[in-house]
Amino acid sequence: MCGIIGIVSTAPVADRLLEGLRRMEYRGYDSAGVCTLHDGALVRRRAEGKLANLAAELARNPAPGTVGIAHTRWATHGAPTTSNAHPHATGEVALVHNGIIENYKPLREELLAEGRTLESETDSEVVAHLVSREVEDGASPEAAVAAVLPRLRGAFALAIAFRAHPGLLIGARLGSPLVVGYADGEMFLGSDALALAGLTQRIAYLEEGDWVVVTREGAEIRDAEGAAVERPVTTSGASAAAVEKGNYRHYMQKEIFEQPTVVAQTLSSYLRPAEGRVALPQFDFDLSAIRRVTIVACGTSFYAGMVAKYWFEQFARVPVDLDVASEFRYREPVLEEGGLALFISQSGETADTLAALRHCKAAGQTIAVVVNVPTSSMAREADLLLPTHAGPEIGVASTKAFTCQLAVLAALAAHLAVAKGRLSREEEAEIVRHLLEAPAALNAALDHDEDIEAMAPLVAGARDVLYLGRGADYPLALEGALKLKEISYIHAEGYASGEMKHGPIALIDEHVPVIVLAPSGPLFEKTVSNMEEVRARGGRVVLISDEDGLAEAGAGCLATIAMPRVHPLIAPLVYAVPVQLLAYHVACVKGTDVDQPRNLAKSVTVE
Ligand code: G6P
Repeated sequence: MCGIIGIVSTAPVADRLLEGLRRMEYRGYDSAGVCTLHDGALVRRRAEGKLANLAAELARNPAPGTVGIAHTRWATHGAPTTSNAHPHATGEVALVHNGIIENYKPLREELLAEGRTLESETDSEVVAHLVSREVEDGASPEAAVAAVLPRLRGAFALAIAFRAHPGLLIGARLGSPLVVGYADGEMFLGSDALALAGLTQRIAYLEEGDWVVVTREGAEIRDAEGAAVERPVTTSGASAAAVEKGNYRHYMQKEIFEQPTVVAQTLSSYLRPAEGRVALPQFDFDLSAIRRVTIVACGTSFYAGMVAKYWFEQFARVPVDLDVASEFRYREPVLEEGGLALFISQSGETADTLAALRHCKAAGQTIAVVVNVPTSSMAREADLLLPTHAGPEIGVASTKAFTCQLAVLAALAAHLAVAKGRLSREEEAEIVRHLLEAPAALNAALDHDEDIEAMAPLVAGARDVLYLGRGADYPLALEGALKLKEISYIHAEGYASGEMKHGPIALIDEHVPVIVLAPSGPLFEKTVSNMEEVRARGGRVVLISDEDGLAEAGAGCLATIAMPRVHPLIAPLVYAVPVQLLAYHVACVKGTDVDQPRNLAKSVTVE
């Protein structure tokens, strides 16, 4: 999603703006631009495509100046061309925007009717013109912004530069995050703390409706009513090192291999091994009174929620409704009193999930949030905040955040079951013991990286791939298919093994690899029957199972991937590894852009 950075300094800013954009590349973008203030003029450089194009443009036509704004754009309104790239500018004002201005059409018509010329197809450009019009009429930058913000509907984070006021920038947020960075003699604006990693770690998070005037000396923050407010300056843990690839070829690869460590890190704040107990962070409502759980999320986080539904119902015997956020928002869900609404998100900023959270809050639900960014909007609006400790996730395709979400959700399911009197102390201790086995099992799964790399070419040539799984491994089949689509651009579908014969079986031939996730255990035999149905029709199977499973059903497969033998509770965490690695190695064989797949964004902050 779009990335914003702004710097007010006494030293040249163009290189550092470009560096900041590089740190935000992971968010996903398709064009970029910079605008500095120099010699009483706005100096704007933009380019479509990758940042290398913008860097080349800046090498040809430098942008001198000690104050500037920059942007990576993920296209919503208008194609990813240079003229639609931000910053958008008039003679007086330049502006970058993340979000969507929903009422841009009437605003645009108003501006056109006044004879103004707009040069892009974007919703953002109207804001530059609205602010510019105020300034041209004699308003100060502050008065101009204060007049325009109430006219905007939708979601935005903005950073605005003014030709005639070279010592300041104005930032504003509503629905999209924006942070202020503090340093000695210079100040920053950024989409998140990571954008400013390497520049400063002293960060203030703007609240909804806030706007801020940033000068070299500091920041004056106002709330939506225009009243001066203070927002605490905290020390961000985001360091430039956290966004380095180290010895890995891709961020995604690094993040897959971090999983044993970050899952252990996450579990350590939810489990008390010595007592065999699950512990949650502080909250002040009665968990035992929860009668229904509504889980809402998007993408990979949704599949974590799908696994959790199996666990909550199995352990706590609490009925669970599960929805993708974009559907939940508009289907008029029935929310009974006494319900717990649970939102799962790596970023904590996904627009649809956040809107669903606010809907549930307004409907009186208790709000629980499993989130990886503790300073995010969702984290701040939760009654029960359940952080994952995955560290910054840079690869667009989520990996380590997913397994950490599963770890937290398993702990929550067990805790809820204890609170509801459905789980004895002994059973709770048993669950704790199995969860503690997860990091070692993840390591054992990663040991098969080279086997998976060796078999990836068998899948890389396919046009379609089918993933099958049963029970809590069915969501893993969906996740496997999603990963393959996201980074290898191969059409893939995940199916419940038993459902395959109701349709997808018609697709089976020797050209469609069928990847079967089947840990040995109670459901193994049934999945093997479905596998035989595939083979009877000439289909080629890749079986992912443990030693026992492979001994029983591995013969005659196109390939097999061995997993450690694990308790069914942690199988979804462990089986995430081979589906991630398979998608990763297939993408490498195909030579696609693993960390920044085409058209995708890391955090989708528009509806
Ligand atoms: C985007 C990302 C996915 C992610 C989804 C949900 O589509 O590309 O990797 O799973 O958003 O994001 P969230 O931050 O809410 O987990």
